Amino acid sequence: MTKLVGVLTAGGDTPGLNAAIRGLGKAAIEGYGMQIVGFYEGYRGLMQNRTIRLNESTLSGILTRGGTILGTSRDKPNNMPMGGQFLDMTDTMLENYNRHHLDVLVCIGGGGTHKSAFKLMKKGLNVVTIPKTIDNDLYGTDHSIGFDTALGIATDAIDRLHSTAHSHHRIIVVEIMGHNTGWLALGSGIAGGADVILIPEISYNTKSIAEAILSRSRGGKRFSIVAVSEGAMSQAEASEIRKAEEALESVKKTADKDKAEAYLTELRQQQSTSTIRLAAELEKLTGLESRVTILGYVQRGGTPSAYDRLLATRLGTAAADLIEKGEYGVMVAARGEGIEPVKLETFVGKRQVVPLDHPWVLSARKVGTNLGD
Ligand code: F6P
Repeated sequence: MTKLVGVLTAGGDTPGLNAAIRGLGKAAIEGYGMQIVGFYEGYRGLMQNRTIRLNESTLSGILTRGGTILGTSRDKPNNMPMGGQFLDMTDTMLENYNRHHLDVLVCIGGGGTHKSAFKLMKKGLNVVTIPKTIDNDLYGTDHSIGFDTALGIATDAIDRLHSTAHSHHRIIVVEIMGHNTGWLALGSGIAGGADVILIPEISYNTKSIAEAILSRSRGGKRFSIVAVSEGAMSQAEASEIRKAEEALESVKKTADKDKAEAYLTELRQQQSTSTIRLAAELEKLTGLESRVTILGYVQRGGTPSAYDRLLATRLGTAAADLIEKGEYGVMVAARGEGIEPVKLETFVGKRQVVPLDHPWVLSARKVGTNLGD
């Protein structure tokens, strides 16, 4: 019997999503004679039943294109913004899944997308997921689609910032995405030869960074590049946020919950501008002029790298193989040179942070990079 497959992309866009849709679609249609329908804008399109038939013509010419032909959103099935309120729309999604007589829904996304896929699975949908995120923080897979491209873009930016920092004898503090993990900042910082790398997993001491910069200056290097992950925090900020989180946990079931929550939100908002404060403090402490560059969404845009095209094609085609076998409720994970199905319940809700003894951390220290501690 012809299998009917649905596919959606959810969460932040990343380069390589189209290559994954193409890999899945071509393998499913040409290899296994399946039919495949795409839902627009992630789970929202599944709820609204907005679809596109994927076939040879719609899958053609998209391998190298950035973004996603399906569009994406961060909307969650059980918390969907609808006319000023948030509603649980999982039943409507189940209805649309059944309306199309789907055998399986393929969800391509990061941590949030996986949580949602797992919720839908518990409602009775068959799901297979494909890992993508520039943050590289998905648990259970060695690699996620998009990380390699973003790593290349951030590294190129650090390379370019070197010549301008050098010419002006400046400190350039460059903020790199990564949400609450430091993979992107650490990887691009090492590859780009940043002098200081700050990641959320290691809270920093501004005075120690200033001292490292001054020591370079005394050695004749009157410029420094500081690569800072968007989630990095000073030791004081980290301790304040930790205390606020503990306080919230202890009053979770009491009337003080809203107040504790509001305070934590305020602290997190303050943290989101800490790169700018850090640059100003470093200027004050070192007497060197300092500038900030926030790379932002440039890191998610444009053509996927060769590695990401290859990974996306491998993961997409492997998803079609699993569907053919009827193996559902799994993510197609990249493990070493191979691909393995990993059951959603074994990793949903977990995050892959940078271990403090990770080889990248050790190598960075060995080449004299200051990690802020
Ligand atoms: O998860 C990918 C990512 O780009 C993170 O690095 C960043 O923190 C976040 O998305 C930004 O989210 P949004 O696209 O919703 O602004």
